[in-house]
Amino acid sequence: MRHPILFDTDPGVDDAQAIAIALCHPELELLGLTTTYGNVDVEVATHNALLLAQLAGRADVPVAQGAAAPLVKTRHPPPAHIHGANGLGDIALPEVQGKADPRSAAQFIVDTVNARPGEVTLVAVGPLGNLAAALQLDPSLTERVKQVVIMGGSIREGGNVTPVAEANMFNDPHAASRVLTAGWPLTLVGLDATHRCVLTAEHMARIAAGQGDLGQVLAGSYAFYRDFYREFLDIDGCCPHDSCALAWLLRPELFTTARGHLTVVTEGDAEGQTLFAPAGRAFIEPRWARTPAITACLNADGPGVSDWIADVLAGAGPPA
Ligand code: BDR
Ligand code: CA
Repeated sequence: MRHPILFDTDPGVDDAQAIAIALCHPELELLGLTTTYGNVDVEVATHNALLLAQLAGRADVPVAQGAAAPLVKTRHPPPAHIHGANGLGDIALPEVQGKADPRSAAQFIVDTVNARPGEVTLVAVGPLGNLAAALQLDPSLTERVKQVVIMGGSIREGGNVTPVAEANMFNDPHAASRVLTAGWPLTLVGLDATHRCVLTAEHMARIAAGQGDLGQVLAGSYAFYRDFYREFLDIDGCCPHDSCALAWLLRPELFTTARGHLTVVTEGDAEGQTLFAPAGRAFIEPRWARTPAITACLNADGPGVSDWIADVLAGAGPPA
């Protein structure tokens, strides 16, 4: 079965790896890339999305630019020490030929989902402003998407930008709260799963060999990202966070999940924290179950997911 997907992203080194999968996997029909600020400014995110599609020989894939800042809170500067100031490890990049779609990301999402009701999966791997804006434009979107898969959040793992918050949730907790409680079929692929996965230098060597010009950009940006993991987290390799959302879509048996109710903390020291109340469990007050039930990943077969990513990208190069 082929999944028609829209991929919402802030590329970003690990975003770039996931975009490469979205562009080449035979079971995915990539309907478009929508961009947001996050790892970089939104203009840089759009540039990178256009470039990655071009390098994969897929300049036909539309790219629509979206959110430049959070809905409510003040924006933090982009994490140039993790992804590089250009989002791709500060390596020299080729010229981009194409242009973004004139529509906003939110309008593009609404138009694309409504053109194929019940078919489109939204995969979002950055701050969630574009999905929140799309819901604002058309609240009935919740009934017309097939499903929503989000890389973000943390149930038991703790945070990566604060002790309790994962970056995509922290960057726009108000948008995250709207999107995660909107009542559409949703799976959260958070740090509980992505921290189990390490993409090693051996994996990346295979990816570089299999992806032509795109592989050179993936490998160069990986080297920068790996330095961050080594220096700050004492890990030799990097967590392929965003690719895990696609791994969940195509290889769900590699993940352990649970149903439950999410609350996103929007203010205070815990902003961006995702609180998960397991379905069917009675807590002291009914309010913990007031949001619609979603699926959350609580664990993953890390080596299995990492090998899957490398196998996909090593095996399928861009068209000649
Ligand atoms: C998430 O934050 C971003 O920096 C990554 O691209 C990923 O989407 C991981 O917390
Ligand atoms: Ca991302």
